[in-house]
Amino acid sequence: MRKLLLFSALTCSIISQAQNLIPVPDTLTGTDFNLFVKDTFHTFYPGYTTTTMGVNNSYLGPTLIFNQGDSVSLHVHNELMEETTIHWHGLHVAPANDGGPHNVIPMMTEWNPKFTVRDHASMYWYHPHLHMMTNMHATMGAAGLIIVRDTIEAELDLPRHYNVDDFPLVIQSKCFSATKQIEVDNASDSVMMVNGAVNGYLPIPAQVVRLRVLNASSERVYNLGFESDLQFYQIGTDGGLLNAPVALTRLKLAPGERADLLVDMTGMEGQQIDLLSYASELPSGTYGAAQPGMGPGQTIPGYLSNILNGANFKIMEFQIIAQTTNPVTAIPSSLITNSTWSTGDATVFRTKLFEPVNMGPTAIQGPFTINGNSFDMMIINDTIFKDAIEIWTLDNQSPIAHPFHIHDIQFYITDINGGAVPANMQGRKDVILVPPMQTVSFITKFETFCDDDGEYMYHCHMLPHEDEGMMGQFIVTCQHLTTEENEDLVFEIYPNPSNGIFEIRKNDSEVAKIIITDLSGKLIRTEFFSGEIYKIDLSNVSSGAYILTLMTETQVSSIQLIKN
Ligand code: C2O
Ligand code: CU
Repeated sequence: MRKLLLFSALTCSIISQAQNLIPVPDTLTGTDFNLFVKDTFHTFYPGYTTTTMGVNNSYLGPTLIFNQGDSVSLHVHNELMEETTIHWHGLHVAPANDGGPHNVIPMMTEWNPKFTVRDHASMYWYHPHLHMMTNMHATMGAAGLIIVRDTIEAELDLPRHYNVDDFPLVIQSKCFSATKQIEVDNASDSVMMVNGAVNGYLPIPAQVVRLRVLNASSERVYNLGFESDLQFYQIGTDGGLLNAPVALTRLKLAPGERADLLVDMTGMEGQQIDLLSYASELPSGTYGAAQPGMGPGQTIPGYLSNILNGANFKIMEFQIIAQTTNPVTAIPSSLITNSTWSTGDATVFRTKLFEPVNMGPTAIQGPFTINGNSFDMMIINDTIFKDAIEIWTLDNQSPIAHPFHIHDIQFYITDINGGAVPANMQGRKDVILVPPMQTVSFITKFETFCDDDGEYMYHCHMLPHEDEGMMGQFIVTCQHLTTEENEDLVFEIYPNPSNGIFEIRKNDSEVAKIIITDLSGKLIRTEFFSGEIYKIDLSNVSSGAYILTLMTETQVSSIQLIKN
């Protein structure tokens, strides 16, 4: 067994202390859930009272157990002395139920989203998502887990007895002040905690156990592995099971990502084994590596003195106890059949370019932009037609890796920097770490929900990056765009091509919405008008081809515009 590293840091205070039993969050079951988000206190260190934000509990909330197909009602009571939101990370819900920055819950009020659970069996999570406040609220502890169960997963011979052979592990690095208060947004996050326990241990039985791991850290990427390189098996990704278990000795887990793991502890009763982050093996340009930027000299204040960066360190210890009755004793050879979409069926291709605002040594300190834009609550960055199958390419032209997350859907990765997708990344995902100066593409379908007034987010899940604007929003519009509808054109445009002013003529006075996108689907403009004639001014838009879509209550048509 490895010894715990003893270390010191400049900003954050660390005291060595006895091991703490890792608490496993309590569960809430049924279809009606009450969550109380509140200002509270928690004891992380004996003798110290730490101010926290909790959900029902004093640090981290209860685990919600959902069954696929159930209609659930969530009563989120905001008892904080400020606004917040609660987002169901990874769940496929309508925008009004999503809990993004637009679904603000004023203080001392209740928000009551109701939805049908449509997700595949996996572990998801909930956390605040107030614009510019996500890191603060989540780091203070207002977050919890969601486990979705479904009938396909239930038929497999897998450990699924919560806190018996199936254990959730919420991994976080934190910075504490000398008085043991949480310091948000501090790169001296040198204290590791699991489910809120510092220097923790967890008893697990000597059989095949399931570990559902969430990286709920603000920024840190882990390179998970056991002591002595014990083999483990990944059976699921963010949004569901893989086709078959994948044997691993290392697994990179970025902020927001989950991994469903099996490890066989048979015959190991009485032993201890550590879970580590082999961060010395992380490539440069990853938060957690010795060099957080690709370029030499690129630093973040407080980063280089943080002992966790670039070093292998212990996350927690497992203490192996007696077997349970009816233990699972074998790793299954296969799991489920994932059905993805064929790339040939994709009709829209979008690129999301990540860039730093500053160049040079401070580039990795942020802020960062997506397609040159910083998040603006009033701007819809993308309009997506319901049921569209799309391929998105994430192009990271910045010197640090960013974990990209998108709401509403799960996706399948199709390409990593032109190369193949490793077997353990071929499942349903909602977060993907995009390495610096590389690209990742994924395919997805925007199904089930549409709402022309309801926004979904996509953003970097490094919470300071998100809060500083590395985020965009999209709507899924209820109108379908089909070629048949184009034959029924209800409007005309004069002149086309034009130097800037296009006149739209239609034959009724119904209110209409105009959506102009470029050929990659990037939104350029939306406007509304009523009447039969309307002029749209694109003189400030660069020359080229655009798609103008006109929508009314009942009809939608598109036409290509040429701006000279
Ligand atoms: Cu986990 Cu948009 O968030
Ligand atoms: Cu980022």
